[in-house]
Amino acid sequence: MLIDVLTIFPKMFDAVMGESIIKRAQEKKVVEINIIDLRLFSKDKHRKVDDKPFGGGPGMVMNAEPFFEAVSYIRRKTKDRRLKTRTILLSPKGKKFSQALAVKLSKYEHMVLLCGHYEGIDNRVAEHLADDEISIGDFILTGGELPAMAIIDSVVRLVPGVLGDENSCKDESFSGNLLEYPHYTRPADYSGMKVPDVLLSGNHGKIEEWRRKEAIKATKKKRPDLLKH
Ligand SMILES: C[S@@+](CC[C@H](N)C(=O)[O-])C[C@H]1O[C@@H](n2cnc3c(N)ncnc32)[C@H](O)[C@@H]1O
Repeated sequence: MLIDVLTIFPKMFDAVMGESIIKRAQEKKVVEINIIDLRLFSKDKHRKVDDKPFGGGPGMVMNAEPFFEAVSYIRRKTKDRRLKTRTILLSPKGKKFSQALAVKLSKYEHMVLLCGHYEGIDNRVAEHLADDEISIGDFILTGGELPAMAIIDSVVRLVPGVLGDENSCKDESFSGNLLEYPHYTRPADYSGMKVPDVLLSGNHGKIEEWRRKEAIKATKKKRPDLLKH
């Protein structure tokens, strides 16, 4: 999968893209991630990418032009590869991100993520450039960089070949309508807090049954809304 990110703060991505599973996915060449400085596509001599809002009001609005120019550059660059692409605008007004949406996005070969700042982006980007507008929740962040990183992380781990064990993401919370069952590891008795006996029994049938019951119990208690679906 190819991922292009348009941002005015490229350095914010260094730590997250350079560690752990995302780092290894790039080393294995399963994923290629390009963090692109949006200012390179500004025609202003000071590389300005924002302006005052028409109609007045507080704050600054990001210009549409650098986004259109940068996406057009990306399209030219990738034209011969005929990739199945999704262009995504990060926005609190978008549809709420979920595991189901992460699974859908993981089927694309190319994601272009557009990060806003200030009061947001000139609405022509949402109207004419983005395929999707995605929010990571009902709260306001300073910019689209953290949402972009959250989406990259959750999508990349679903791309075949990224996780060492493909089964790791099969029973996870939200992969069905249940939260995942609880995990325990050594020691079996930590200061009197004991691991459930069944997990030490070696009886795989019983363990499966216990895990399913615990998943239902945890979902009923913590996220009963999931059971309605
Ligand atoms: C300060 S926010 C703009 C908020 C906007 N004035 C509003 O009220 O809807 C600046 C940028 O951060 C990003 N952003 C903020 N919160 C977000 C969220 N919950 N999900 C996705 N992106 C978000 C978007 O890219 C947005 O353009």
